[in-house]
Amino acid sequence: MIVTHLLAKNWRNFRHIDVALRERQFIVGPNAAGKSNFLDLFRFLRDIAKSEGGGLQKALKDRGGVPKVRSLAARKDPEIAIQITLGDTPSTPALWRYALGIKQEARGLRLPFVSYERVWRDGEQVLDRPDGEDNKDPARLTQTFLEQIGANSSFRDIARFLQAATYLHLVPQLLRFADVIQGRIVEDDPFGQSFLERIARTTDKTRRARLRIIEEALKVAVPQLQQLQFTRDSDTGRPHLQALYSHWRPNAGWQQEDQFSDGTLRLIGLLWSLLEGDSLLLLEEPELSLNSGIVAQFAPLVARLQRPRKRQVIVSTHSEALLTERGIDGKEVLLLTPETEGTRVVVVSELSEVRSLLEAGFTVGEAVLPKTRPTNPTQLALLD
Ligand SMILES: Nc1ncnc2c1ncn2[C@@H]1O[C@H](COP(=O)(O)OP(=O)(O)O)[C@@H](O)[C@H]1O
Ligand SMILES: [Mg+2]
Repeated sequence: MIVTHLLAKNWRNFRHIDVALRERQFIVGPNAAGKSNFLDLFRFLRDIAKSEGGGLQKALKDRGGVPKVRSLAARKDPEIAIQITLGDTPSTPALWRYALGIKQEARGLRLPFVSYERVWRDGEQVLDRPDGEDNKDPARLTQTFLEQIGANSSFRDIARFLQAATYLHLVPQLLRFADVIQGRIVEDDPFGQSFLERIARTTDKTRRARLRIIEEALKVAVPQLQQLQFTRDSDTGRPHLQALYSHWRPNAGWQQEDQFSDGTLRLIGLLWSLLEGDSLLLLEEPELSLNSGIVAQFAPLVARLQRPRKRQVIVSTHSEALLTERGIDGKEVLLLTPETEGTRVVVVSELSEVRSLLEAGFTVGEAVLPKTRPTNPTQLALLD
């Protein structure tokens, strides 16, 4: 299942979002355009749905409360609203629709509350809050049904899907020095600190199958790499990855992950995540620390690994190189453009100038990335 459509209102620096989404979706835009905020919208839904330590109040509190999350440009409209549509593919009929409105009490404790919560299954509405019970006992509206096992049984698939969504912004140093730093692991491990533990927890068979796929992919990106394997310290039992490189020096031997380059480590982490689940994967700027040759391979790699499983991937990026593959469709790229009343989000295939450039043989990167340079005054005119 994938998110096929997103509708949102007053979410951080967006006044309004209304876009279709594909299996592989790239989010581009200048600095502070809201790429991370866009991804955070899905993390927010995941944080509500989470079975452990989840819920609306916590998800909002972790983000500084309604005043931080609601768009500063919202002014008179006090409501934050999010609606996602879920389906098997972008072109098949919707399976689910989930819509949530959030407001904050005008006085007293100023608690956030659910202004509405609605669910449709196969086009038929199966939830419509506030209902009679909510009206009798308004405190019920401080929780969504999505977060309550006892209340979401008629739409459990949505809760499961959101719970399994993963956000990854892998920081190689944290992974490499996990033993030394022994730091607190951030909730849900977005920085990949316990990545090796995750690899260790899978069964031998699954692990071997995944590492083989990653090894094949890595050989394209890191030509000297010959083999990749999982091991454990004989004394401490700590999990490790090892790679065998071919060098001019014979018997150069196996290297452990603390000797891998940042790019190799990040790539292994990204690829593993792609293979790990079948729910939404949110990747933050995967191009960081990869050289441009490898970055150019990234989009086709995602498509190749997605083929059997269709794990949806939403990728924020700054990189023109990441979008040079000819196979990237204009529908797969969302352009964020900051405007005075909030950031505007468009699917680039809807921009006529971009369409003509694509038809003339330009890559999406060439056609779109110049528009993310903020000093270019023609950028706004293009969107008219
Ligand atoms: N509630 C809000 N209303 C308006 N703007 C916001 C809100 N919360 C954050 N922002 C703005 O969003 C911008 C940061 O967006 P971010 O997603 O980090 O950008 P990017 O990842 O594209 O660099 C900042 O300029 C910040 O001021
Ligand atoms: Mg960002």
